[in-house]
Parts: sequence; structure tokens; C-alpha cells
Amino acid sequence: MTELADVPIDQASATSLSVNGLRLALVDTSDHAKFETWLRADSRGFHEPEFSAETITHHVTGLADRRTTGVWDDSTLDAATPVATVSSWTVDMTVPGRRTLEALAISSVTVAPTHRRKGIARNLLEGELRTAHQRGIPMAILTVSESTIYGRFGFAPAAFAANLEIDTKRVTWTGPTPDGRVNFITRSQFRNDVAEMHERVRLDSPGQIPAWGLRWDQLAGIADDDKNKGADLRAVRYDDADGHARGLALYRVTENEGDFRGHTLTVLHLSHETDDAYFALWRYLLEMDLVRALKAVHRTVDEPVVWNISDRRAASQSTWDHLWLRILDVRASLEARRYAGEGRCVLRVEDELGFATGTYLLEVDATGTARVTAGFDGDDSASISLPITSLSALYLGGVSASTLSSAGLLAGTSKSVATLDSIFHSARAPWLSISF
Ligand SMILES: CC(C)(COP(=O)(O)OP(=O)(O)OC[C@H]1O[C@@H](n2cnc3c(N)ncnc32)[C@H](O)[C@@H]1OP(=O)(O)O)[C@@H](O)C(=O)NCCC(=O)NCCS
Repeated sequence: MTELADVPIDQASATSLSVNGLRLALVDTSDHAKFETWLRADSRGFHEPEFSAETITHHVTGLADRRTTGVWDDSTLDAATPVATVSSWTVDMTVPGRRTLEALAISSVTVAPTHRRKGIARNLLEGELRTAHQRGIPMAILTVSESTIYGRFGFAPAAFAANLEIDTKRVTWTGPTPDGRVNFITRSQFRNDVAEMHERVRLDSPGQIPAWGLRWDQLAGIADDDKNKGADLRAVRYDDADGHARGLALYRVTENEGDFRGHTLTVLHLSHETDDAYFALWRYLLEMDLVRALKAVHRTVDEPVVWNISDRRAASQSTWDHLWLRILDVRASLEARRYAGEGRCVLRVEDELGFATGTYLLEVDATGTARVTAGFDGDDSASISLPITSLSALYLGGVSASTLSSAGLLAGTSKSVATLDSIFHSARAPWLSISF
């Protein structure tokens, strides 16, 4: 893993911001007071309530290892508080073929409302991308508050997520009935189990990244000092017939005051390492007494459970763009993943920020292994022209080249588009189960 926390700030961005009297600098996260001020600016940027001292301590210890950057305006009343924030760290992102690629995860992008639309975010983003590119990190990734912001920096959605709603009174379980059992566990136990489970399953889905302790504390409702925060959460675990933990679910039931048989059950997390665990946990959740509506948030776009209920129309789903990718190094990124079949294609990539512009020959052999030749200038009759956003969208195999071609977002012969479709496809829909 490339260590970026202490790499000096990007000079081009620092100079550009200084023209407007703004100072770009790294935060020493071992300095509690300085890091606290940055954390409060970050949460204010997302309109969150003020952090208590207890929450601050949790965040200071939980996020100290990240590259933490701020922008200061010394002319403001509170000159110690940054007017903009960004943080980043490197992760092993799962790519097709149960492999991983090093990526720069970028988070905490905020600009104070008093300083918006002056180009501060652009300087932060471009600075982080240049820093990653210079250090040889082939990819940058984000989960986004708005889908309107990051395309201009070369990012595109590549892994989607879905919210599922099921009218539980209309359905019976039609799936298998496994031998193991579902047990209640405490939220603390869940927090420990979910961290281990995530490590065991994250290679299963392209787009997954390792999580961090604070993220699991927050999910389990044990991170915050608001003692009631997690009080309505219930955690269950599926143990197989031999007593091994194979799946976990976290949910809350919300009362319907007007109808005590019409509660809503919201599934906040479900992870599994065996099909049996998946079946048993979904059956448990769907058959809950006093519940009429089940909502499952942040699921995959192709949940098998809709095939395990008696009435498909009792289920509806809405999807959104969750994980955004930005390829910085085409050769390293394309050679890192495995492909669904053999093929050859020349990719003419345009990148407004210049990192990836070029012509690349992609040759995939019968084992699904790629060799990429950058600067290719041979026969390109089977070529595709596309912006870096389109290549980034295609990368994990969840977006088809045909769709992008129909949308006018890549150009090539129908044969070469078909080649990309067949080799890039991922049987498992890309999915990132956490936000950052
Ligand atoms: C989103 C945010 C970081 C933008 O900061 P900013 O300093 O105002 O952005 P910039 O002035 O650098 O704008 C850069 C470009 O992005 C565009 N842009 C910025 N915010 C945008 C938005 N919310 N929607 C659409 N476009 C946006 C600008 O128009 C500008 O476009 P251009 O350079 O192509 O002409 C800031 O508004 C913010 O903190 N929002 C609340 C927190 C948030 O949502 N953060 C993003 C987390 S993923």
C-alpha cells in the first residue's frame, strides 16, 4: 500500500488557491486540537449536528491514519477553522476475478457555504488526483453526495446499489430451508463479527473495499455518544449446523401507531458467506410477525431474494449510482482485473486532465488475463474512442459498452463494442456495501 498521509500538498493547487488568499495545508492528525477543528469543519460541511467531545475522541482515534487536508482563509472571523476539507487513503479495491487494485479513496470533500463556487473543490480534487498519479496509484474512488459534481474530474459511476421494498403480507418464502439457526447477538458482538465477515467476503463483489473500525462502530450504533442511537437496532447471526458463523443481519422495526400489525422492518445490513446463511436470514426477516413492510437499504442490484418469494410483484426496487471510479493509469488498471473471455481491442482514451490520454492495445488471452500496450500505433481497425469517464464506468463490468455506445458515450464499430461487452462483463454485479 502506498503511504500518502505525509506526502506534501500539491503545489499547483496551493499556488492557485493562494491567489485568492487561501492556504492549502495538511493537518497533523496527532495534534488532537487541530484535528478536532478539522473534523468539526468536515461535519459542518455536511450539515451534521455539532459533535460532542465523546464523538470527537472516537473520530480522532478512528481516522488519524488518513491524509487530511484543509484550506484556511486567514481573513475570516474564525481563522483556525478550515473553510474546506478533504481526506484520502489507499485501499485494495476488489476487481473482477477476485483480485484487487490499489485505489485512492477520497472522502470528506466539503467547502464552507461562505466560500462555495470559487474553485476550492476543484483545487482539492485535482490536487489529490495529481498526488495519487505521481505516486503511481492507478485509480481514485468516491461515494458521492450528488451525482452532478465528479464527472468533470473524470469520475463515473461503476457500481450501483439498490433499495428494496417488499410487502411481506403478500409473500411466502419459496426458497430453501437450511439446517443451521438464526440467533440474536448483541450489537457489540455484531460489530466484531461484521468486521471479520467483511474481510472474508469482500473479494466476492467487484467494488468492495476494506472497511475501518469506526465505520462498523457507526453501523452498529455504538460509535456515537447519543445513547439512544442504536437502541432500536437488532442484530442476528446465522450459524451453520456445525456452529460456524456464516451470515449477519442488522435491522430495526418501526412501529405503525395506527396499526400494530403494520410495522416496518428496515434491513440496514446483511452479509453472508454461504447461500444457506442468505436464505435463512432473508426468511427470518420476511416472516417477522407484526410487520407489513420490509425495506432493505443499500443492497445489490440483483438480489436473489426476489426469486425466493411467492409474489415477485410484492417487491420493488430503486437503484442509484454508489461507487464512482476514476482511472488514472489505464495499463495498470486494465491489467489488474480478469476478463470474461478472449478478445482484442484498441482503446483511444481522452482525458481532459491528461492523466490517461492515449491509445492502448488491450489483448485478453483465453485465461482472461490482459496485456496492455500503451502508446500503440499499429492496426486499430477494431478501435473504440471513449472519454476516461466511459472507461471508468465500464471497468468493474457492471455497465455495458453497448449502453454507453447507445448513449453516445463511446464510439466504435459494432464488432468492437460487442467485444468490450463480452470481455468486460462481470457475472457478479459490482457492489460496494459501505459508504465513505
Ligand atoms: C460540492 C462542494 C464540495 C463544491 O465545492 P465548491 O468549492 O463550491 O466547488 P468549485 O467551486 O470548485 O466547483 C468546481 C466545479 O464543480 C461544479 N459544482 C460544484 N458543486 C456542484 C454541485 N453541487 N452540483 C453541480 N456542480 C457543482 C462547479 O460549478 C464547478 O464547475 P466548473 O469548474 O466545471 O465550471 C460544496 O458545495 C460542498 O461542500 N457541498 C456540501 C458537501 C458535499 O456535498 N460534498 C461532496 C461530498 S461527495
